[in-house]
Amino acid sequence: MTQQADRAAQAPGRIAARLGRIKPSPTVSLFGRVAELRAEGRSVIGLVAGEPDFDTPDNIKRAAIEAIKAGQTKYTPVAGTPTLKAAICTKFKRENDLDYTPDQVIAGVGGKHVIFNAFLATLSPGDEVVIPAPYWVSYPEMVTLCDGVPVIIPGRAERGFKLVPDDLDHAITPRTKWVILNSPSNPSGAAYTRDELRGLTQVLCRHPNVMVLSDDIYEHLTYGDFTFTTAAQVEPELYERTLTVNGVSKTYCMTGWRIGYGGGPRDIVKAMSSVQSHSTTNPTSISQAAAVEALNGPQDFIAENRAAFARRRAMVVERLNAIDGLECQEPQGAFYVFPSCAGMIGRKRPDGSTISNDENYVTYLLEEAGVGVVFGDAFGMSPYFRLSYAASDDVLRDACDRIAKASAALR
Ligand SMILES: Cc1ncc(COP(=O)(O)O)c(C=O)c1O
Repeated sequence: MTQQADRAAQAPGRIAARLGRIKPSPTVSLFGRVAELRAEGRSVIGLVAGEPDFDTPDNIKRAAIEAIKAGQTKYTPVAGTPTLKAAICTKFKRENDLDYTPDQVIAGVGGKHVIFNAFLATLSPGDEVVIPAPYWVSYPEMVTLCDGVPVIIPGRAERGFKLVPDDLDHAITPRTKWVILNSPSNPSGAAYTRDELRGLTQVLCRHPNVMVLSDDIYEHLTYGDFTFTTAAQVEPELYERTLTVNGVSKTYCMTGWRIGYGGGPRDIVKAMSSVQSHSTTNPTSISQAAAVEALNGPQDFIAENRAAFARRRAMVVERLNAIDGLECQEPQGAFYVFPSCAGMIGRKRPDGSTISNDENYVTYLLEEAGVGVVFGDAFGMSPYFRLSYAASDDVLRDACDRIAKASAALR
């Protein structure tokens, strides 16, 4: 960039004021830093991204290729093809016992887009959205971009990072528009049992003007004998004011295909459709065909992936807990662990500088050990970090060894 162009790029007033209220995604920028270090020739293990390391199953890829050959390359209805909407309705019935008709479901460009559409369609300035910490980095920023006010409920490690009914009750005000529930959670992996969820839904029943956004994107990634349930299923009274969000990214290893979906009240879905009609129009026609195959096709590979994730989770939790200064709970789901690094705070790096927060520790791990993880503050809870175990067993073993060695070098 020339100096002149650079000065123009910083011209005051050019960027909307609302952009000044948000931070770029720290997970995306850490992902970029890992790539930069690799480009410099450093050996770096990236455990930053929230995506399965498994490839998209072949039957799903074939469905996309067939769709191209069959000429499914044109605009589709905004909220999704009739075939995809039917597949989504069938999925909700089959897996969640939720009855939605096609006018109650919408497909978007990833779950992220669906959630963004929901906030853009419903939030007026000053409307509050209750977000339990630790939270997915995008929730507060999406709320802020849509003129809403994120109301963060501090997380409690001693409750397995799960929201408790009293805390929820206290956070709700007359301005509360939505409460977000995300189980299994990104970043903690915490997942609510039916009873735990019922404790929360009972509170929500007492607040009839509050809507519930249930982000179920990690639904199929739970371990042991855990049974997944979702808010509108556990409490039918909430059905009329719950948007149940899901997608194919995590379960079907399709992060790049960008298909997410939601089911909920007709007026909300119609308003979301209206927003979408002026932004992306439909999600990609070819990805929609692939998502139909994902939802309707063989599901047995999910159990195989789940078994691999469960094995990795056990290994990572054990190895991290063996490191002096770290404490790692074993979460019920997703593919993340969220260890405390409280024991590292105050220690000195070999160069004499002090680790004073989780971001310092994570930077140290990246620069010294060549392991990329995300600091807890990005998710609203310190001093922790998120490690994604969506990587091969060998890579994870190497990463844990590197973390152990670098941590032992702190004094
Ligand atoms: C909690 C949570 N919700 C939603 C999403 C959105 O996923 P996608 O937009 O790929 O469907 C993610 C992705 O990381 C996530 O972690």
